[in-house]
Amino acid sequence: MGTAIVTGSSSGIGKACAQMLLEEGYRVIGISRTRGDIEHPLFTHLACDLGDFTSVEALKTPLAHYDDLNLLVNAAGFGRFEPHEEITPSVIRDMVAVNLTAPMLLSRFTLRLLKRNRGTIVNITSIEATRHAKFSALYTATKTGLRSFGHTLFEELRPSGVAVLTINPDMTDTPFFDTLRFGVGDEDDMKLFASDIAGTLKNALSLRAGVSVTEITVRPRRFGISKKTR
Ligand SMILES: NC(=O)c1ccc[n+]([C@@H]2O[C@H](COP(=O)([O-])OP(=O)(O)OC[C@H]3O[C@@H](n4cnc5c(N)ncnc54)[C@H](OP(=O)(O)O)[C@@H]3O)[C@@H](O)[C@H]2O)c1
Repeated sequence: MGTAIVTGSSSGIGKACAQMLLEEGYRVIGISRTRGDIEHPLFTHLACDLGDFTSVEALKTPLAHYDDLNLLVNAAGFGRFEPHEEITPSVIRDMVAVNLTAPMLLSRFTLRLLKRNRGTIVNITSIEATRHAKFSALYTATKTGLRSFGHTLFEELRPSGVAVLTINPDMTDTPFFDTLRFGVGDEDDMKLFASDIAGTLKNALSLRAGVSVTEITVRPRRFGISKKTR
């Protein structure tokens, strides 16, 4: 199946995607600050703070060694949902770096191999990339930027046969909400699970090689949200 790079492999959606890809027979290179708990003979972890430009650049050399690289999944990311004037400058810098700059850099560093192997770039954006919700200006900007980056890159890469898939998940039950004042809905049909996004990716990758699904929005059937008291 070749090699897949998955950022955010230590938790949530990235972890579920990495596990799914390992089950499908990919060698998976996971990238995150912490290793997480995936134990598999085909799993390698590269520790990296994707918010640090120099550290991301340092990935270029080790990633170039995987000649059979044919999948890059940009899943690492985080969100803050507060009035914009309450968000610190360092959070603004970090969120742009992790959610937007790092996927752009990793795409840049892997394109030579992805073109050679007619591979696929997958960007995990957000439902917030498709709308303009209050208290989400920074996060929405990063995710809308990533969504547009993916669609535009797809047009550029069509002659080389590289696919770019954007997945816009709605609220998904992961540690993403641990530091936020709200969480997913209580009922199973009011939230997504990380495995739902991994399953969506698996389905998209199962199509014949000449077909590209360019965007998928995944939502729970019913709306749900839980407010935290603290
Ligand atoms: N959960 C949702 O409702 C939801 C909905 C739509 C979109 N998303 C998007 O889905 C993606 C995955 O989120 P999740 O829900 O799976 O959240 P999560 O469980 O908190 O996982 C976030 C992942 O990103 C990694 N990460 C964060 N900051 C990093 C940094 N500076 N350097 C390297 N890795 C970093 C984390 O690894 P380390 O902490 O080990 O570094 C972790 O593996 C994110 O891009 C998020 O915006 C989530």
